Amino acid sequence: MSSLAALNNGLKMPMVGLGCWKIPNTVCAEQVYQAIKLGYRLFDGAEDYGNEKEVGQGIRRAIDEKIVKRSDLFIVSKLWNTYHHPDHVKLAVKKTLSDLGLDYLDLYYIHFPLAFKFVPIEEKYPPGFYTGKEDAAQGKISLQKVPYLDTYHAMEALVEEGLIKSIGVSNLQGGLLQDVLMGCKIKPVTLQIEHHPYLTQSRLVDYCKREQIIVVAYSSFGQQSYLELGSELKEDTPNLFDHPVIKRIASKYNVTTSEVLLRWANQNGVAVIPKSSKKERLLMNLNIESTLTLSNEELVEISNINRNIRFNDTWGWNNMGFPTFA
Ligand SMILES: NC(=O)c1ccc[n+]([C@@H]2O[C@H](COP(=O)([O-])OP(=O)(O)OC[C@H]3O[C@@H](n4cnc5c(N)ncnc54)[C@H](OP(=O)(O)O)[C@@H]3O)[C@@H](O)[C@H]2O)c1
Repeated sequence: MSSLAALNNGLKMPMVGLGCWKIPNTVCAEQVYQAIKLGYRLFDGAEDYGNEKEVGQGIRRAIDEKIVKRSDLFIVSKLWNTYHHPDHVKLAVKKTLSDLGLDYLDLYYIHFPLAFKFVPIEEKYPPGFYTGKEDAAQGKISLQKVPYLDTYHAMEALVEEGLIKSIGVSNLQGGLLQDVLMGCKIKPVTLQIEHHPYLTQSRLVDYCKREQIIVVAYSSFGQQSYLELGSELKEDTPNLFDHPVIKRIASKYNVTTSEVLLRWANQNGVAVIPKSSKKERLLMNLNIESTLTLSNEELVEISNINRNIRFNDTWGWNNMGFPTFA
């Protein structure tokens, strides 16, 4: 099982969890159930992944078979961009809780610092980039005027109501995160960001450490996750699994390059949530903390691979030029 990180609200969160993005609906319940049997306790889901009903079914089966209790699990979801208006935040978490079949979340993130125009659940769920029929016909995404802190305060109300235990922020850079800390009543416990040796964001990670916010890495293998979505490898950016530094270190410890990538983040105090559909990889990913320990020199050498390459950038969404990371 994974070690636990102490969150700034007194709760504990596993340092390794299972990412639920792109787990197909047809196999999701079974994969979540099997992952719990293998020892996974943190499930990183989101409204936008469109599989919360199935994630909930896997959890329910494991609880019914007394493999775990609800309190052993750390269940995560994310508020999608469509529901940023304070009038809609509770609506969204209630839908997620009802799909999951749970009465609280351990952690609820604001997925992106982008407020899309509201779309009723009955019209389209999950709405993804859809902001209405006319916009869809023109390939547009419309925003609504909701400042981030207004959404954040509505998340705080969910904590006070007991619907969520902790608040997380995601895809923020330092300026907006600092603003949240200036304006919040309840501190975020985590910042979830794209994080791998091509995008180390070391100042942001240091700032979070100073503020007792745990950084959670997504896409720990770099472009791997985006290749299955049709992205192409750039010639001058080898797949991180084939990067010569990562390969050399992996061969020294007789482990896979994936283990080196996850352990590098983990030894830097960054939690990881790799997704896999394969049992042997699920186990390998879960066990990285006991498989190898990198030296300080190796940690630095891997960090120095950084090239500030981001694979998940809102700028390109429907060519709208959203400046989240600009
Ligand atoms: N906050 C956000 O905006 C955001 C954005 C993206 C992702 N996320 C979260 O982060 C999670 C993880 O990120 P991700 O899904 O982008 O990518 P990832 O977990 O970094 O990569 C998944 C890919 O790596 C493969 N893989 C997994 N373990 C492996 C191993 N040990 N060796 C070789 N290949 C391996 C998987 O293939 P197989 O399935 O075939 O094993 C899959 O192709 C997501 O599921 C989601 O929960 C959050």
